[in-house]
Amino acid sequence: MAVERSEPTYRLALPEPTTSFEQDAEYCVLDLGHGWTEYRFHDYDELFKIPGLYEKLFYDILQCQSPAVVAGALAEQLDAVGVDPSGLRVLDVGAGNGIVAEELRARGVGKVVGIDILPEARDAAERDRPGVYDDYHVVDLTDLDEETTETIAAGGFDALTCVAALGFGDIPPAAFRAAFDMVAVDGFVAITLRDDFLSDGDTSGFAGLISSMLASGELEELGSTVYRHRLATSRDPLLYRAVVARKRRPRG
Ligand SMILES: C[S@@+](CC[C@H](N)C(=O)[O-])C[C@H]1O[C@@H](n2cnc3c(N)ncnc32)[C@H](O)[C@@H]1O
Repeated sequence: MAVERSEPTYRLALPEPTTSFEQDAEYCVLDLGHGWTEYRFHDYDELFKIPGLYEKLFYDILQCQSPAVVAGALAEQLDAVGVDPSGLRVLDVGAGNGIVAEELRARGVGKVVGIDILPEARDAAERDRPGVYDDYHVVDLTDLDEETTETIAAGGFDALTCVAALGFGDIPPAAFRAAFDMVAVDGFVAITLRDDFLSDGDTSGFAGLISSMLASGELEELGSTVYRHRLATSRDPLLYRAVVARKRRPRG
C-alpha cells in the first residue's frame, strides 16, 4: 500500500485457523482500549471508522490481492487495444475506502468516481486517500431513483470496476445491472466474483446474469483469470475470478 500508516492504537485477533466460516460470517475481535469486541468482516461501517484497520486486516494479515489483480487485468486489456488509460472515466462500484481507485490511478487512469452505500466508506476514502476519487456518491444501488441515476450517469463512464463487492449480502445482481446500465456502449467492465458464483451450481444469481449477458452479445469477455483473492480466517485460500469484458450494446 502506498498509504502512510501509523502504529495501530488497537489490538486485533482472529479466530483459530482450525475453525472455518462462510465469508459473510467471518469475524475478528478488536480491543480499542476498553476490552474485546467482535466485529463481523461485513460490518464495514464500523471497520472503516478506524484508520488503517481495513488495510491491516484484509491486506497485511489476510493478504488480499484483488484491487491490484483487477486493475492490472484492466490495464493489460486497455493496452492490448491501444486505449490510453488517461482518457478513461471509471465508475468504481462498492468503492469502500478507495484502494481500487488508488490502483487505477497508479496505472494512469484519468477519472475515477466511487459509489458505495455507506457514508463511512466515503469518509474513509476522503480521510485515507484524498483526491483518488473525482466524485463519490453514497447511494444504495438496489434503490436508485431516476434523478440520482441521471446525476451519476452524467459522469460519462466508459469503464466500470467492482472489486470484492458482488454477492454475500453486498451488491446483488440487480444492483450490478443498474451500475452496468450507466456505462457507455464499448465501455470496459472489470469485476471480481468468487469463482463458484460463475459455476452451474451458483445460487447468487450472478452466473445467470453474466452468462445471459454474454449469450445475448451485450457483453464480450476479453479475459478472465482465477487467483487467490485473500486468505480466509482458516488461512485457506479464497479463490476468485477476475473478468475483464466490454459492453457491446445497451440492454435490449
Ligand atoms: C469488501 S468491500 C470492497 C471495497 C473495495 N472495492 C475494495 O476492494 O477494497 C464491499 C463494499 O461494497 C459496498 N456495498 C455493499 N452493498 C452495496 C450496495 N447495495 N450499493 C453500493 N455499495 C454497496 C460496501 O459498503 C463495501 O464498502
